[in-house]
Amino acid sequence: MKKLLLLLLFSVLLGYLLLAQEESIPDVLTVIHSRKSVRSYTDQKVSRDQLTTLVKAGMAAPTAMNKQPWFFVVIDDKEMLSTLANKMMFGNMLNFASAAIVVCVDMRRVPDALPKFWVQDCSAASHNILLAAEGTGLGAVWIGVYPNKIAVRKVRKFLNLPRHYVPLNIISIGYPDGSERPKNKWDENRVIWNKND
Ligand SMILES: Cc1cc2nc3c(=O)[nH]c(=O)nc-3n(C[C@H](O)[C@H](O)[C@H](O)COP(=O)(O)O)c2cc1C
Repeated sequence: MKKLLLLLLFSVLLGYLLLAQEESIPDVLTVIHSRKSVRSYTDQKVSRDQLTTLVKAGMAAPTAMNKQPWFFVVIDDKEMLSTLANKMMFGNMLNFASAAIVVCVDMRRVPDALPKFWVQDCSAASHNILLAAEGTGLGAVWIGVYPNKIAVRKVRKFLNLPRHYVPLNIISIGYPDGSERPKNKWDENRVIWNKND
């Protein structure tokens, strides 16, 4: 009888824990529609485990011919973030960010047959990172680098990257201070069904 009661108690507790875990993870459409560029952060530090989770999400993206030509530079050094902020024309938020991920392509992994698809590949990875940030309670924004040649050169030089790495963007990351809201972009006039009449 005692064993049965214990088993019952354990099952109830397990059920409760599973339910609580499920409730804390927002569903995919909620994450997509809540995502926004976040440029204002609190001082709270983002851990390396959290950053690894974001990079893993990046590497789960689809790529042409499954070549996965990406390379990620994770920066969590505040001094480096500030120096980078000063180098980028639109990167002031890096001064307040806890971390950044520089999404690059490794040109050696780009197939000759598809020389230009790496932009889509790395963009898909970047957006996975943005969504993963939103979904895990963080805030992030895409800071454009490629195809601005000067910006590409600056970032490459700063990170001491060889020429076969091309930075597509810098994703600035931190805990959102809550001041930014998602924009409603839905416009049914931008959609047709089947074909143009
Ligand atoms: C290719 C690309 C480049 C961007 N570059 C910058 C940038 O340099 N600095 C910045 O603050 N935001 C940048 N953004 C973020 C956009 O400004 C932002 O996505 C847009 O205003 C829509 O707002 P939302 O992300 O909140 O929906 C960039 C976004 C993309 C996709």
